[in-house]
Amino acid sequence: MTLDVARQSQTGRTGLPADGTTPLVNSWNEWDPLEEVVVGRADGACYEPTEPGYRPQVRGARNAPFPTGAKPAETIARANEELDGLSDLLRSLGVTVRRPDPFDFSAALRTPSFEVENQYCSVCPRDVLITMGNQIVEATMSRRTRFFEYLPYRHLVYDYWNADQRVVWTTAPKPSMSDEMYREEFWTLTAEERQARMYDFEYCVTQTEVIFDAADITRMGRDVFVHESMTTNRLGISWLRRELEPRGLRVHGLRFPRDLFPSHIDATFVPLRPGLVLTNPDRPLEGEERDLFRSNGWEFVDAPEPKCTDDDMPSYCQSSRWLSMNLLSVSPDTVICEETEKETQGLLRGLGFEVLTVPFRNVYEFGGSLHCATWDVRRTGGCEDYFPA
Ligand code: ARG
Repeated sequence: MTLDVARQSQTGRTGLPADGTTPLVNSWNEWDPLEEVVVGRADGACYEPTEPGYRPQVRGARNAPFPTGAKPAETIARANEELDGLSDLLRSLGVTVRRPDPFDFSAALRTPSFEVENQYCSVCPRDVLITMGNQIVEATMSRRTRFFEYLPYRHLVYDYWNADQRVVWTTAPKPSMSDEMYREEFWTLTAEERQARMYDFEYCVTQTEVIFDAADITRMGRDVFVHESMTTNRLGISWLRRELEPRGLRVHGLRFPRDLFPSHIDATFVPLRPGLVLTNPDRPLEGEERDLFRSNGWEFVDAPEPKCTDDDMPSYCQSSRWLSMNLLSVSPDTVICEETEKETQGLLRGLGFEVLTVPFRNVYEFGGSLHCATWDVRRTGGCEDYFPA
């Protein structure tokens, strides 16, 4: 089944320019051979403040106050060392690596509709920007502290846009992030109440403004999947559909009802190569959404239980232990995994992948792992149809 999809995908290429050269910005899926990537940096990072769309907690100490202001210099240096290590590994593979500008995230923000005491960081370009073929899309973002997070990447976007006339640059409408945009009662629900309401798909954001983070999107050629979550609402999915469908893509919403705090798709549903997705056994896809993959010959393989428990994750890390499956593909048969995530590595080797590893746990408290901390700007290959049925 998997092979059929792979074989189909080699025919009927679309999306490559008529002159045969690849645009400077060109990425249609999560697995084609990587040519150019942006890797985040930890300089100037701050702890994320509590806000209507977010309640950070110290892991294993729910009532301890979450730190505020700038992160300590040593914490930043340790993360930077690992981000530099990833950059070096990518360069050794022949990938062009670019980095965001340094930025002072400790500045308070005041807009007409909200105020916040400091901002966050530029470790996770994945959350802010996404490449859709030759188009760069800047997300609306969903949290106040991340409103201006596109700024450290703006000079890179200008570089790509200036250097190649074929590069299209689109910024999504900025939401107000006013109090009305959030549902504060979301944070007060008990575990039982959340469980009972999981099919309501109502989280901490309302449905009145267009909201999405780029990391809720995953690309599989002509088909683009958008995760409905705490960071992406239904209007966000509609906006992406109306923006991308005239450009020949098909946009599908995806829901993972058993994830009671859903945010960003890349620790939940990770395409590895044509016909194969790494899935999260705690957060299965259900019903018609699952059937679309099945009827097109796609196979799901569950990520193995990570050895580390949620309590073993770094104290200030707000992501789950499923960062274990947050990998970066450098080609359809080579992936980069975090060094200590041995269970994931073993599974992938068994599936025939070459698995490269780097230490990255010191980055976890800055919003994620290898997929989160990167933005793939160019991969070899065009737009193919992996969902013909
Ligand atoms: N919310 C996910 C989890 O805890 C983590 C996703 C991080 N991804 C990202 N692009 N920042 O499982």
